[in-house]
Amino acid sequence: MSTDAIVLLKDDHKRIKKLFRDFQDAGENATASKGGIVRKIIEELTVHTYLENEVMYPQVRRLLPGLEDDVLESYEEHHVADVLCLELYVMDPGDEHFDAKTTVLIENVTHHIEEEEQEWFPKVREGLGRKPLQEMGARMIEMRGKAPRKPTQPSALKKAFDAIVA
Ligand SMILES: [Fe+2]
Ligand SMILES: [Fe+2]
Repeated sequence: MSTDAIVLLKDDHKRIKKLFRDFQDAGENATASKGGIVRKIIEELTVHTYLENEVMYPQVRRLLPGLEDDVLESYEEHHVADVLCLELYVMDPGDEHFDAKTTVLIENVTHHIEEEEQEWFPKVREGLGRKPLQEMGARMIEMRGKAPRKPTQPSALKKAFDAIVA
């Protein structure tokens, strides 16, 4: 199995985008199954943004100062996703805002993933090279087990709180 950080993050993206399609294909009235899909989306995104925020972004910021603006923009995009995930987590799937909010989450995250994969990751790969990316990936695998899976867990809430107040 590859431990290349970018390969691992792209695998996450693939799973997340598959869940987005499941939601979009579920149909108008499939309230229960859409509720279940959104739970899975929230879990995947909570783990994924945690790993990027804790491992990749700070490292890239430190090692590639030229990419600082991209890192800061990505933090903001994660923050928007965090807020939407938290709101959806406590919302009843039957709520009239549920589908609309999920659609906005999907649009935002799809845009963010495209930016990462098309603009950002290639620059990171070029700037860092193989070894640092493998070390970063190994660290991600290690941290995955203790990453928050729900937006209400303290480490996830702290991230949202820090983004607003710190
Ligand atoms: Fe990201
Ligand atoms: Fe990502």
